Amino acid sequence: TSVLLLNGPNLGRLGVREPDVYGSTSYAELVRLAARWGDEHDLAVDVRQTDDESEIVHWLHEAVDTRAHVIINPAAFTHYSYAMRDAAAQVTKSGLLLVEVHISNPHARETFRHTSVISGVATGTIAGFGLGSYRLAVQALADALA
Ligand code: DQA
Repeated sequence: TSVLLLNGPNLGRLGVREPDVYGSTSYAELVRLAARWGDEHDLAVDVRQTDDESEIVHWLHEAVDTRAHVIINPAAFTHYSYAMRDAAAQVTKSGLLLVEVHISNPHARETFRHTSVISGVATGTIAGFGLGSYRLAVQALADALA
């Protein structure tokens, strides 16, 4: 079973960027960990990151076309990208699972982070558990597919 694990803008800076909020583990380490968590559940997890909104949209189209489930940390796109939301809706409407992930708890932060335009079309959301949020998302997918 294929899973696209998509990361939005600035997440390539994990470990360097605001470690008080996002921790000190690097993006490269996340890629390694996610592949391992996938292996534990027989899921082929393809981890990607982009700062580009159109690339995220295209990857969501790819998920539909290749029948891959999605774990996505849309980062700041969470709060305003209707293009990404519309692409995400195509994923779940086509019967695939899409788990929204956040490292921090956006609801405990600035008001502009309290809105997620993607939550309403996601299968579910996991937030606030550091990089553990991604591990829980892999687990949630595996459970839902079992
Ligand atoms: C984030 C939360 C967003 O508000 C923020 O823009 C990010 C990361 C998180 O993982 O906690 O870049 O999605």
